[in-house]
Amino acid sequence: MADTSTIDVERLTIFEAEAELKRLAAEIAAHDRAYHEQDAPTVSDAAYDRLRLRNERIEKRFPSLVQADSPSRRVGAAPASGFAKHSHRAPMLSLGNAFEEEDVEAFATSIRTFLERDFAVANPPPLTMVAEPKIDGLSISLTYENGRFTRGATRGDGSVGEDVTANLMTLPDTELPRRLADAPELLEVRGEIYMTRTDFLALNDQLQAAGEKPLANPRNGAAGALRQLDPDVTRRRPLRLFAYALGHSSSPIADTQWGILQRLAAWGFPATGLARRCDDVADLLTQYRRIGDARADLPYEIDGVVYKVDRLDWQERLGFVARSPRWAIAHKFPAEQARTRLRAITIQVGRTGALTPVAELEPIGVGGVLVQRATLHNEDEIARKDIRVGDLVIVQRAGDVIPQIVASLPEHRPEGTEPFAFPTHCPVCGSAATRDADEAVRRCSGGLVCSAQTVERLKHMVSRDAFDIDGLGQQSIEAFFADGLLKTPADLYRLTPADLTGREGWAELSIRNLMAAIDARRELPLDRFLFGLGIRRIGEANAKLLARHYGDWDSLVSAMTAAADPASPARQELVAINRIGPNIAADLVAFFIEPHNQAVLAALVAAVRVLPVAAPVAAASAITGKTVVFTGELTAMGRREAKARAEALGAKVAGSVSAKTDIVIVGSDAGSKAVKARELGLTIWDESQWLQVAQAGS
Ligand code: IVH
Repeated sequence: MADTSTIDVERLTIFEAEAELKRLAAEIAAHDRAYHEQDAPTVSDAAYDRLRLRNERIEKRFPSLVQADSPSRRVGAAPASGFAKHSHRAPMLSLGNAFEEEDVEAFATSIRTFLERDFAVANPPPLTMVAEPKIDGLSISLTYENGRFTRGATRGDGSVGEDVTANLMTLPDTELPRRLADAPELLEVRGEIYMTRTDFLALNDQLQAAGEKPLANPRNGAAGALRQLDPDVTRRRPLRLFAYALGHSSSPIADTQWGILQRLAAWGFPATGLARRCDDVADLLTQYRRIGDARADLPYEIDGVVYKVDRLDWQERLGFVARSPRWAIAHKFPAEQARTRLRAITIQVGRTGALTPVAELEPIGVGGVLVQRATLHNEDEIARKDIRVGDLVIVQRAGDVIPQIVASLPEHRPEGTEPFAFPTHCPVCGSAATRDADEAVRRCSGGLVCSAQTVERLKHMVSRDAFDIDGLGQQSIEAFFADGLLKTPADLYRLTPADLTGREGWAELSIRNLMAAIDARRELPLDRFLFGLGIRRIGEANAKLLARHYGDWDSLVSAMTAAADPASPARQELVAINRIGPNIAADLVAFFIEPHNQAVLAALVAAVRVLPVAAPVAAASAITGKTVVFTGELTAMGRREAKARAEALGAKVAGSVSAKTDIVIVGSDAGSKAVKARELGLTIWDESQWLQVAQAGS
C-alpha cells in the first residue's frame, strides 16, 4: 500500500486506516523503546505527541480497528532489568496534552459535561483547578510506611517500575524527607526527579573531559544518574526532587490538590513555588503565560503547565480514560527555536556503518542552551527540506532531544549555493556507501576495513552498559587506535603500563586505575559481553534474551554457526525466540560466520572469561503445566513464536481443542475452535491477556 502517513484522518479508507494504525504502532513502540530503555529519545515530545494523537483520532473514527496492543492502551515501556521490580499500589499514568488554547477550553467543557449534576444547578460552583509547571524529569513514586521512607521506584510500565531506593538515598533529607510526621500508615508520594541545568552542564563537562559523549539534556542526565547500578556513581550526579501528587494513601490527607501540595510542602518536600489555584480557563491561561515567561530563568527545565481539577472528590468521579486521568491535562509549551547560519554539513560514521549528516552551525543560544551542532537525520530529509550549506536555518530544541533543523529560509539564501550532494562513499575509508531499498540510511560497506566503524565499536565495547571500563574515554580510544595500541578488542587486555607511560594525560595514578579497571573486567557475564560486541540490532535487551536462551558462550557460538543455513533447525530456534525476528537473526548469523570476526572473537575470549548466565528459574506463570491451544490470527507475534514462548513458560501447546485443554487463546478471525471452547466452557483468553503472560518475566 502507498504511503498512508500523509493522508488526512478524515479521508482515510478503512484499509488505509488499518495500515496506518499498524505503522503508527510500530513507530510509537520504537520511540518508546528509545526513550524508556535507552534514555535516548529519537523524536521531540511534540512530534511524539502528534503520532499518538493521530493514532487516537484514527481509532476514534474506526473503533473496530483498535488492536489489543494499540499504543493508546500502553504507557511507557516495561522495566529494564538490573533493578528489582516494584509494583505500584496505585498505577502511575501519564497525561493527555493540550497544545492550543482551544484544547484547554475543550478540556474544561468536557469536565463540566461529565460533572453534569454539579453544574446543572442555578449557581454552579467554580471549576477550580491548580496550574503547576510540568517538570521535565522522570516520574517517581516514593513509598512511606508509618511515615518512614521505605521505597522509591520509577514509573516503568505504569504498574511495575524499578526499585531505585538505593540511588534515591543519595538525595539529602532536605530534598527527600526520610520521615513524615502524622502521615497515613501507607502513602505513595508522586513527583519528579530532575537535574538542574547547572549540574547538567557540569556533568557534561566532566563527561567530555573524560572523552565521553555528552548527554542531550538534563532529563537524560537525570535518567542516567537514577538508573546507575552503582549508587556511588549517582552520588556524583546530583539529583533533585519536586513532589506534586499522591498515589495510594491509606487515609485521606486533604480534600483538594491544593491541600495536598500544602501538606507535601509542610512535610518538607521541595516545591516549585509556581503552582496557583485558578477559577476559570482565562485564569489558567494567564498562569500558562506567567510560567512560560519565567521558564528561561528557572534553574530547571519545564515543558508545559499541568492543570488539575482541585477537588479530589471530583477527580475520583472523573476517573481515567485509557492511560490518562480525565481530571488533568498537560498544556505544552511550543518548542524553542532560533535562526542561525549553517556553516557545514559533516558526515559521521557510526558503529554499524550508518552515515549520519550533522549540521555545523554558527553557535546560537536556544532556550538557554548553546547550540552548535544539530542532527539532519538522513539524506532524504536534507533533500526534502532543501537544506544547503550557507543557508539561514531554523534550529529547534525541544528540551528532550538533540537539536534539529526545522527548515531553511531560502529567501535569505546567499548566491551560488548548491543542493547538498550526499556522499556515495564513506568519508573515512572510501568504501562505497549503499542504501537498502527499504531504509533511509546509507551505510559504509567497508565493514571491518573501515576505521571509523572499528573505533566506534571499540568505544561501544568499553562503554558503561557493555564492558564498562572505567577511565577509558572516547578520545583515548581514538588516540590509542591512531597509534596502533588498540586495534582489536583483544588489544585492550594486552595494554601494559609501559604502553601508556609518557603519554599526555596519563599520569601514574590514572594508568594504575585504568589497569585495575581492565583487570576488573577479565570476567564478564554473557549478556554484557554479547552487547559489547556491537552487533547491529543487538542492544541490551536482545543480548539478554540471547544470553538467557543459550546460557553460555560456547553454546551460543555453536548455535549461531549451525544457524548459518536459513533452513536449519538452529535458525528456526533462533527466530522462535520472542522478539528475535528474521532480520535480527540474519544480522547475528552474518556476524558470527564472518571469518575476521571469528578471529577477533577467538582472541577476545582467550583474554576474557565469559560467565554463563543462569537459566531463568522457570517462573511459575499462569500457563505453567497447562495445555493451551492457539486459534485465530495473532497480531503481535507469529504462531511459531507464540508456541515457543508458551513452551518456554512450561505449557504444553496442543493443536486441537478438547476437554483436556485448559486455556484457548483466541486471535482475530477465530473459527470453530473458539466455538468449541465456548461450548466446553473452557478458559478463553484474548490476545492481550496472552501477551501479558507471555511478556511477564521475559
Ligand atoms: S501529575 C495522573 N504534575 O508528567 C498523572 N505530573 O505526562 C499524574 N509531570 O508522568 C501526574 N510535572 O512524570 C503531574 N506537576 C506535575 C508534573 C507531572 C511533570 C510528569 C509526570 C507524569 C508526566 C505526564
